[in-house]
Amino acid sequence: MRKGILTIAAVGLLASGGLTACSDDSGTGSADSKKTPKIGVILPDSKSSPRWETADRRFLEEAFKAAGVQYDIQNAQNDKATFQTIAEQMITSGVTALMIVNLDSGTGKAVLDKAKSQGVATIDYDRLTLGGSAQYYVSFDNETVGKLQGEGLAKCLTEKGAKNPVVAYLNGSPTDNNATLFKAGYDSVLKPKFDSKEYTKGPDDAVPGWDGPTAATIFEQQLTATKGKIDGVLAANDTLGNAAISILKKNKINGKVPVTGQDASVEGLQNILAGDQCMTVYKAVREEAKAASDLAITLAKGEKKDTGQTVKDPEGGRDVPSVLLTPKAIYKDNVKDVIADGYATKEQVCTAAYAKFCAGAGIS
Ligand code: BGC
Repeated sequence: MRKGILTIAAVGLLASGGLTACSDDSGTGSADSKKTPKIGVILPDSKSSPRWETADRRFLEEAFKAAGVQYDIQNAQNDKATFQTIAEQMITSGVTALMIVNLDSGTGKAVLDKAKSQGVATIDYDRLTLGGSAQYYVSFDNETVGKLQGEGLAKCLTEKGAKNPVVAYLNGSPTDNNATLFKAGYDSVLKPKFDSKEYTKGPDDAVPGWDGPTAATIFEQQLTATKGKIDGVLAANDTLGNAAISILKKNKINGKVPVTGQDASVEGLQNILAGDQCMTVYKAVREEAKAASDLAITLAKGEKKDTGQTVKDPEGGRDVPSVLLTPKAIYKDNVKDVIADGYATKEQVCTAAYAKFCAGAGIS
């Protein structure tokens, strides 16, 4: 078994208050204890990252179909009111479990509390809702994601022979707890280098909503403010990375300034192959979807699982039972691993403009 993929033993050890409405361990078989699973999923948007529609939807469908459960997957398109409306409709339609990727902790919490009050099982999928009430949290080790980004940028700066490089930050959305965790991860690698004056800390900005066009505007301002003196960009995902790359291209310095990313998007992989992006972080969403689907089905049956791990909610103070999977750094030489894993296809990545780079990176 690979590290980080936790065995989910079916042990009913967790004392979770939210389970009362659908749990009956006495074996008397109340009507509620054997609900036919119907799982509702609310995805956040389709622009901050292509992953939600191209990977999460696909792999969640795959997992639900394999398990033979009913499901309803909807996308809130970055609109909090829509997010709440979808949740209410799903609860009314009788979902037994609700899985959310929150747009912020406030609306996330409102939705989780409403579901809980109606006896609907809840899972925080990918993003932890601070102060929330989800029964489980399924994600990746997000601080490690950030650490891989920090280490990746350092590796690429060394390869470029950069001396006292100025590093700029394009952080994720301030409303996303994951963005906080990614930053804690890359700061753990880069801050010691700023403190020792090996590197110089440049502009450090968050990008609201993980929005690509906003990131491009912010990065252009960062370049102006530093009079063009940015030697490396810690971009928190491939969307933000591509925004920085578009501005570097405009200034004809793409390829000279390493840029990080996350999500192993087709665009990110192509940017890496072309030498415009230093690295990305691959998160095997198939495993994340499978773990969440397994938990949702268990909860719908009125059962509980011991995930063997908890995450502390810094706001609510709760220890949330969690499944945290292991992310992987991707550079030019292992882009092929993402394709071999079925996350992206050769046809998607190796289009005419990238064919020669694919051949050079052993993708055949
Ligand atoms: C996810 C990333 C994604 C970002 C923007 C984060 O919460 O973990 O994979 O790139 O949101 O959608």
